[in-house]
Amino acid sequence: MFKYSLACLALLATGCLSTTTTSKPGYSRNITSTVTDPSFSFGKHYAVLNLDLIDGLVANVNTTRSGQLWIDNVANWIDAVHKQDPPPLSIFTRVFFSNTYRPELGNTPFASAVTSLGNATASSPDSQIYSAFKTLDNYDVVLQKARYYAGAGNQLEEILSSQKIDTVILSGIRTSGVVLSTAFRLLDMNYNVYVISNNTIETPSSYAALNQKVILEGILPELPVNIISIEQAIGALNRSGPAVY
Ligand SMILES: *[C@@H]1O[C@H](CO)[C@@H](O)[C@H](O)[C@H]1NC(C)=O
Ligand SMILES: *[C@@H]1O[C@H](CO)[C@@H](O)[C@H](O)[C@H]1NC(C)=O
Ligand SMILES: *[C@@H]1O[C@H](CO)[C@@H](O)[C@H](O)[C@H]1NC(C)=O
Ligand SMILES: *[C@@H]1O[C@H](CO)[C@@H](O)[C@H](O)[C@H]1NC(C)=O
Ligand SMILES: *[C@@H]1O[C@H](CO)[C@@H](O)[C@H](O)[C@H]1NC(C)=O
Repeated sequence: MFKYSLACLALLATGCLSTTTTSKPGYSRNITSTVTDPSFSFGKHYAVLNLDLIDGLVANVNTTRSGQLWIDNVANWIDAVHKQDPPPLSIFTRVFFSNTYRPELGNTPFASAVTSLGNATASSPDSQIYSAFKTLDNYDVVLQKARYYAGAGNQLEEILSSQKIDTVILSGIRTSGVVLSTAFRLLDMNYNVYVISNNTIETPSSYAALNQKVILEGILPELPVNIISIEQAIGALNRSGPAVY
């Protein structure tokens, strides 16, 4: 924080002090993996969960270097997954509301967590999947949600159980929101949960760097959720499958 303020002064960049996000995203390339077996795989019944990768949220990080690294890693992962033959089930989530009155929210506590998305509906620019991330038409699944958990109020659980999925691999924004919430819930529902450390990012806040490290190295490994790097994830893809979907 101190270093950053000095940098702002050095540049005489008044914008540094006037924006609401003077802090950086939480993102690290020094996260310890919990999986050490070099031959681990995701099996045949795995699903890839790409959480809340929408314009309105990605815009909070895409002007930063770490945000760009995160975007590149997530995009590479999505593309590598799509190159599998056959591709496994990929499920994307988007946050938006049924109409501009936001009936999903009312006066709930969660409403204050999504004020930045305004009254985004299915067609709003903010709720679209960010352009760097591709979906396979009529193959990948895109679900609406209006809470932290990826399966809140949608077909996630029905799809995972109908497809006999036993393993899920998570990427998304932000680490302390959808990723953490979804890891807890799916672990409780007996799924093997993997989080790709390079593919999850903490939106700028005073605690972003700390949150990112503590969640990925402290909290999730204790559950236990598997923390792996993008390199491990792509290696494991090659040893997994053929995916059943
Ligand atoms: C992914 O994360 C690991 C562990 O934090 C790091 O060593 C590696 O350099 C990262 N890879 C990329 C492509 O960012
Ligand atoms: C990376 O993390 C390890 C273990 O937490 C630490 O000892 C090391 O100093 C860190 N390296 C960098 C470059 O931050
Ligand atoms: C960041 O994302 C927003 C929303 O998609 C986009 O309008 C903007 O051009 C992006 N900025 C950069 C630097 O990529
Ligand atoms: C939608 O959001 C805008 C901007 O915040 C607001 O002016 C408008 O009243 C909202 N519309 C509805 C129906 O809530
Ligand atoms: C995975 O398989 C592809 C295609 O066979 C290959 O190009 C790539 O190098 C492999 N990656 C790893 C990490 O083994």
